[in-house]
Amino acid sequence: MHNFLRIDGADVAKKRRDLLKVEIDDFRSRFGRPPGLAVVIVGEDPASQVYVRNKVKTAAEINMVSQHHELSSSIEFDQLRVVIEQLNRDENVDGILVQLPLPKHLVAHEVIDLISPLKDPDGLTTENLGLLLGGRRRIAPCTPLGVMTLLDHYGIEVEGLNTVVVGRSNIVGKPMAQLLLEANATVTVCHSKTTNLIEHTNRADLVVVAAGQSRFLGREAFKKNAVVIDVGMHRPVEGDFAGRLCGDVRFEELIDWVSAATPVPKGVGPMTIQCLMENTLKLAKLRMGQMD
Ligand code: GUN
Repeated sequence: MHNFLRIDGADVAKKRRDLLKVEIDDFRSRFGRPPGLAVVIVGEDPASQVYVRNKVKTAAEINMVSQHHELSSSIEFDQLRVVIEQLNRDENVDGILVQLPLPKHLVAHEVIDLISPLKDPDGLTTENLGLLLGGRRRIAPCTPLGVMTLLDHYGIEVEGLNTVVVGRSNIVGKPMAQLLLEANATVTVCHSKTTNLIEHTNRADLVVVAAGQSRFLGREAFKKNAVVIDVGMHRPVEGDFAGRLCGDVRFEELIDWVSAATPVPKGVGPMTIQCLMENTLKLAKLRMGQMD
């Protein structure tokens, strides 16, 4: 019988959420206020609105205070600067998240760098990415951190493994590669210009797929008994999966082939939100001079 582990991100996130709630109550009783998260959304991208609603709802469940700022898609950079600078000064705000993607007239890294690096729970400011790359991590981006947390939870040791990251975005691929390196994996980063992608992925013990293409890789892409982590999140408008949430991987093809894989939904997604909450509490403690 083939042994297959369905990595359950929803379950791990729930377990960690219960523990985090206790820590948040402890923070509140020590400092007389809960940790605070401000979520800024620019424009009406429907997927972003769902993500933001989930973040605000999760914050409420664990007694974290959240503010939700919905701004017009036509907002000018300087107006956005005023909003973010006001949040930087707000003593009750520990984390500021600007939901991506932004409308085309705004440059993501310019907007993100308006956030104080000490209030950046996404770990995407230049300073926090630089600290990560220099091996002096303060805050790691939520999705890669969520992947590492899942692997750790299931006792999947990455030291010495041949790993492939498919995707090189600043938000997932690059920090994912860095976290795997820090954990002593051998890391190959593949992307849209990689020749023979499948030759790379087929040699890997662990593959993290963050390609941004719906149901892109299936059984043919993976070695028998590999571990496959799917970071994709899509809701196709047509085809067999129209209207359903699916990932970058054809999960159903892997069940009798690889040793472990994350489904979509209930895989990496819930861990991203959980890590956002954990990062926000970490920043709150740092600001209060209480970092252990
Ligand atoms: N858009 C998709 N994922 C994320 C995320 O983790 N953080 C932010 N700010 N925007 C996103």
